[in-house]
Amino acid sequence: MNRAPDFLYGTAWKEEQTQALTELALRSGFRGIDTANQRRHYFEAGVGQALAASYRDGVVTREELFLQTKFTYKDGQDHRLPYDPGADLSTQVGQSMHSSLEHLGTEHVDSYVLHGPSSGYGWTDDDTEVWAAMARERDAGRTRLLGVSNVSLRHLEQMASIGLEMPAFVQNRCFARRGWDRAVRAFCADRGIVYQGFSLLTANVEVLHHPQMTRIAARLHAAPTQVVFRFALAVGMLPLTGTSDVLHMTQDLASRELAIQADEVRTIESLLA
Ligand SMILES: NC(=O)c1ccc[n+]([C@@H]2O[C@H](COP(=O)([O-])OP(=O)(O)OC[C@H]3O[C@@H](n4cnc5c(N)ncnc54)[C@H](OP(=O)(O)O)[C@@H]3O)[C@@H](O)[C@H]2O)c1
Repeated sequence: MNRAPDFLYGTAWKEEQTQALTELALRSGFRGIDTANQRRHYFEAGVGQALAASYRDGVVTREELFLQTKFTYKDGQDHRLPYDPGADLSTQVGQSMHSSLEHLGTEHVDSYVLHGPSSGYGWTDDDTEVWAAMARERDAGRTRLLGVSNVSLRHLEQMASIGLEMPAFVQNRCFARRGWDRAVRAFCADRGIVYQGFSLLTANVEVLHHPQMTRIAARLHAAPTQVVFRFALAVGMLPLTGTSDVLHMTQDLASRELAIQADEVRTIESLLA
């Protein structure tokens, strides 16, 4: 797929259900899949099995899909590493990508994401090395686009200030009490970076029960969860959902059709901030 879809199905924490749930998501209409070569939280090979079955059953073609996976540092992994822990970081990126392509049964992914910088405090030389290796993977045609995840505004400003290529995507946990990651979203909007938001529901349970949300959901004849996703789209986010429930899959996709009003978007944006 040449552009990012408007919703991503997240495949974390599904273990032996990964194949069945990813197939169900594709049948339900999701065309964007988010995974990672991090066996601790994701079963990337199970995603690949779902893709193979879905191609075979005529549900979807590779060209219709947006596939995103990630490189994860050793510190974020368990013992099931997709690379040689003794190798240098550039080699690890190459090995992780090679393994991802094998898992997913494809010659290229659409987006390759640095799962998280090596330090929460700022961008490091290790990150610069990994980022350069990821760019070489892109230049070799193994991913179309690059992204970073779990980043602060500081990380992004440091990337810009040392003259690095900026990512096409930022994928962050999105807290309503931080204005739904307002500062990072503003940075992204200024630079044409697509902001992918995760934990939109789980990080914001207070929002789902807020009286203002109840009022807006009632006006739209929708569930508060759907209003959160519709809000995310309205402010320019690319939302992720990792639901295991087929009804929620359908509801989440249907949220795109809700006629939310500009003043409702503003209300939700400042609900807890
Ligand atoms: N980059 C990173 O570090 C990172 C970290 C975390 C997640 N992610 C990505 O983001 C994806 C989504 O993760 P998440 O943290 O947002 O949580 P999630 O896995 O989407 O969990 C959502 C929770 O809310 C419940 N829920 C209730 N109503 C729902 C509805 N209408 N739609 C969806 N969920 C509903 C779900 O239960 P039911 O299953 O019963 O619906 C589930 O327990 C992951 O699979 C992963 O791909 C990335």
